Amino acid sequence: MTSSRDKLTMLTAYDYWTSQLVDAAGTDMILVGDSLGMVIQGKENTLEVTVDDIVYHCRAVSRGRKRALIVGDMPYLSYHISPAETVRNAGRIIREGRADAVKLEGGSKRIPMIQTILDAEIPVMGHVGLTPQSVNALGGFKVQGKNDESRKRVVEDALALEDTGVFAIVLECIPYDLAAEITERLSIPTIGIGAGPHCDGQVLVTHDLLGMSLGKPPKFVRQFANFTETGIDAVTAFNDAVRDGSFPSIGESYKASKKRHNLRLY
Ligand code: KIV
Ligand code: NA
Repeated sequence: MTSSRDKLTMLTAYDYWTSQLVDAAGTDMILVGDSLGMVIQGKENTLEVTVDDIVYHCRAVSRGRKRALIVGDMPYLSYHISPAETVRNAGRIIREGRADAVKLEGGSKRIPMIQTILDAEIPVMGHVGLTPQSVNALGGFKVQGKNDESRKRVVEDALALEDTGVFAIVLECIPYDLAAEITERLSIPTIGIGAGPHCDGQVLVTHDLLGMSLGKPPKFVRQFANFTETGIDAVTAFNDAVRDGSFPSIGESYKASKKRHNLRLY
């Protein structure tokens, strides 16, 4: 697809329903991102997400997927300690979570660990630029690659990852001309988020594009729908209908008969 210039699409899913939706719409890849720590656990950052969390959500997502490639995110501290722990954690995401590949953050520094995962026959996706697991080291969620030194580091990291054998790289929150330069220099696909239009593909958090978050989204998000508004309207209508007695109607209720209904109990 990279050589044919067809853009790749990747979206997050953390559950069965979202996985079915994203897959049915023809998305190329589903990311079970550690963004779930913020999006569904309501935390300030992604640092507390565990391998168990990722495995649990990957399993649900795998049941809803028909054709998209599933990428499981390696959470903070799951690939930092030793090669043995790294391979075991990546292996759990594949074997218990039923993901097809893993993604992890960082450049040159992470290469020995990436190598051990690749040696276990697990495809790896890279992630450079703004790496949210480095939030404390970076001093916040900030655009990376804005000066010459930082720019050079991002380019070198991307090249080193390609050399190591990752199959694609996420470029997060870097200037669009830097993303264009990296995309030009690499033969593997670049998947941008807040990295401009020149990448080989784009990734977004599905909750953001569907308008499923209550706060103000970052600049790089386009809200393609407003599920929050639709959801509040629907829930308000339910509350009103219950309170005024119009829900449920008799048509939405069961009648007694000789043959007992096969009730579906929850
Ligand atoms: O966790 C995530 O959702 C991600 C994407 C934003 C790339 O890593
Ligand atoms: Na992530």
